Amino acid sequence: PQLARFIAAMPKTEYHVHLEGTLEADMKFVLAHRNGLKLPFADVAAMKASYKFNDLPSFLAIYYDGMKVLLKEQDFYDLACAYLTKAASQNIVYTEMFFDPQEHLKRGVPMAAVIGGITRARHDAQAALGIRSQLILCFVRDLSAESAMAALDAALPFKEHLVGVGLDSDEKGNPPEKFRAHFAKARANGLHVTAHCDVDQVDTLRNIRTALLDLKVDRIDHGGNIVQSPELVAIARERGIYFTVCPTFSGTLRAAMQQPVDVVRAMLDAGLKLTISSDDPAYMGSEYLNDVLIRAADRSQLTRAEITMIARNGFEAAWLPAADKSAMI
Ligand code: ADE
Ligand code: ZN
Repeated sequence: PQLARFIAAMPKTEYHVHLEGTLEADMKFVLAHRNGLKLPFADVAAMKASYKFNDLPSFLAIYYDGMKVLLKEQDFYDLACAYLTKAASQNIVYTEMFFDPQEHLKRGVPMAAVIGGITRARHDAQAALGIRSQLILCFVRDLSAESAMAALDAALPFKEHLVGVGLDSDEKGNPPEKFRAHFAKARANGLHVTAHCDVDQVDTLRNIRTALLDLKVDRIDHGGNIVQSPELVAIARERGIYFTVCPTFSGTLRAAMQQPVDVVRAMLDAGLKLTISSDDPAYMGSEYLNDVLIRAADRSQLTRAEITMIARNGFEAAWLPAADKSAMI
């Protein structure tokens, strides 16, 4: 309880949270009703009981199905307001949030409604609650390269509302180099770049290498398998790469290891810089950042000094001008 109070009181950041992954079951019912959609669940409990997955593809199927209720600018506003309110209540003072516009464009939602609703929520939350935030457009890597480019082109007129681009969804058969041109265009437009390298995927180490050396990402989301390669660890340390680790989802390495390895512990011991995030809390037991950190402290045997360092990493990793960053610390 003392540690829980310490964690709750600590000013925090969050960099690996998918807005659509914060869509709670009760809000799904509200939005479905508002939009005249019928959901195939009797109630919130039945919906939550359906959140059963054992790997990335089985998680993604539930996650993409769940976001179909998001249709209007107001829906995106309500979604982002709910997350930012929750985050502010947990002493998160700054967050960079992912969103998956290709999935919404597929349903005919205009990019202006998606980015517009989220941006309006960001401004209102900052004014009302003091929480600052930015937005990262994720390419859904298992959709086509053309679809990703169309989304980027549709988003560039709103680029002042974006801070970066990322890469998420199913990694198998969709390596980072599929998005080389997209990342180059994003960078040419002043955006930062990051990429998911989920744990224990096919070619994980190869993809981490490509992300670091070829795409020259500024950050890696998850990325725990890097501890299997001293060479890549050295490169990441030299480049000062921050990893956004989500222990709820990617806290344990199994593939190619003799026994399960705790990701946070192994990365800290390898001298890597990491931050901790909640990923898709609505689908992961509704555990938001404070709960995730309390659990991580226990499972990874984190000292207070390590918890403080992880929180400090969060402020240093911010995609903000240096003066704004030091003002936050
Ligand atoms: N989409 C939402 N959460 C994700 C994750 N953790 N990995 C890949 N794609 C995702
Ligand atoms: Zn993620």
